[in-house]
Amino acid sequence: MSPEAGATQLPVPRHVAIVMDGNGRWAQERGLPRSEGHRAGAVAVQRTVEACRELGIRYLTLYAFSTENWQRPPAEIRALMGLLREFLDNRLDDLVRQGVRLNVIGQIERLPRLVRSRLERVMARTANGTQGTLTLALSYGARAEITAAARALAEEVRAGKLAPKDITEQALAARLQTASLPDPDLVIRTAGEKRLSNFLLWQLSYAEFWFTDLCWPDFDREVLRQALDEFGRRQRRFGGLVHA
Ligand code: FPP
Repeated sequence: MSPEAGATQLPVPRHVAIVMDGNGRWAQERGLPRSEGHRAGAVAVQRTVEACRELGIRYLTLYAFSTENWQRPPAEIRALMGLLREFLDNRLDDLVRQGVRLNVIGQIERLPRLVRSRLERVMARTANGTQGTLTLALSYGARAEITAAARALAEEVRAGKLAPKDITEQALAARLQTASLPDPDLVIRTAGEKRLSNFLLWQLSYAEFWFTDLCWPDFDREVLRQALDEFGRRQRRFGGLVHA
């Protein structure tokens, strides 16, 4: 993704991760059913993918459905899965044209077959994209992801392929579903809540946090630019010291 002409000279995050919250509240404030909030949220997803490309962000990861979201009423889950299918059907050509590769993290096997087949199709068709990577976290939970990585390491030790001393941070990170992605530099959460909700707990260790009271359907390029401006002005020390 190439930065637009005249864009700020401040550092641009390579990887932005977003907790898209507040679809329900957005709908409630307008006297609409929650599903309409999710529909408007899907439009905001499309806007944000385009804005990231224009602003030079190479990796975008969106928390679209958590392992905990399975507890929602079946009708709401059906509506969300329907929107996901529509998104994958309608945006495929754009993603290919823009050179954006689709990637998915989470317990994909729990998703309905019709969603899985579309995900597989879009991932295959966009696999050669070199301009950016859009990762959807679907049926995703960070604790489950870390647990699975620990189990994989234990199995390799039991099989004699790995010695316990070789269990390093790098070895664990390589067994996470995000192994091919850089850690996020910036995490954004909308709708006023200030928590991580089991999102990328390992990968966000050194990320900058940015919050807005706006609900996700109101998120747009201008809001993203505000977040990027603030990110660009922060000093990231990664636990060390910054020398003038
Ligand atoms: C949080 O709002 C949002 C979700 C649980 C789902 C996010 C889904 C979308 C943005 C639309 C579909 C996604 C794609 C990728 C096309 P909430 O329902 O928890 O809002 P509330 O806290 O106000 O109730």
